[in-house]
Amino acid sequence: MEKKLVRCNINGKDVETYLDVRSSLTDMLRNDYRLTSVKKGCEVGECGACNVIIDGECYNSCIYLAVWAEGKHIRTLESLLGPNGELSDIQQAFVDEAAVQCGFCTPGFIMTAVKILESGKEYTREELRKQLSGHLCRCTGYENILNAVEKTMKKRLGKA
Ligand code: FES
Ligand code: FES
Repeated sequence: MEKKLVRCNINGKDVETYLDVRSSLTDMLRNDYRLTSVKKGCEVGECGACNVIIDGECYNSCIYLAVWAEGKHIRTLESLLGPNGELSDIQQAFVDEAAVQCGFCTPGFIMTAVKILESGKEYTREELRKQLSGHLCRCTGYENILNAVEKTMKKRLGKA
């Protein structure tokens, strides 16, 4: 098995580890760094459960080789919590809007929502639906998820 040193920044911390060059970023985040918000759903890039933010863009980490993370800044859901484990506004909105049932898809959805919210732009509901369309949820019917993202967007823009 060929191994390689991968150095990157995860949730604000510089880290490095030797990895099997065939490892996915999902496996690196879950197994080496215990970031279990990163879920393994389809593992073929179709469901969005493994979505993380890399250098400001969303990626399905199951189809992203861990070695490609060299020098990159990666953010997972764990980075959103406050110092005492407080939920961020978007996480709280998912709770308040009943946008979580089994929760398996939730971290992936929320990281895409973070990207949307941090753009500082206002999107229509249809635009939000399109931006979140890379995520599958078998439980909620999507409307509550859209409500959570839309309400948080409006609040952050002072339009709630
Ligand atoms: S687990 Fe990565 S897209 Fe489904
Ligand atoms: S809440 Fe169960 S898959 Fe989305």
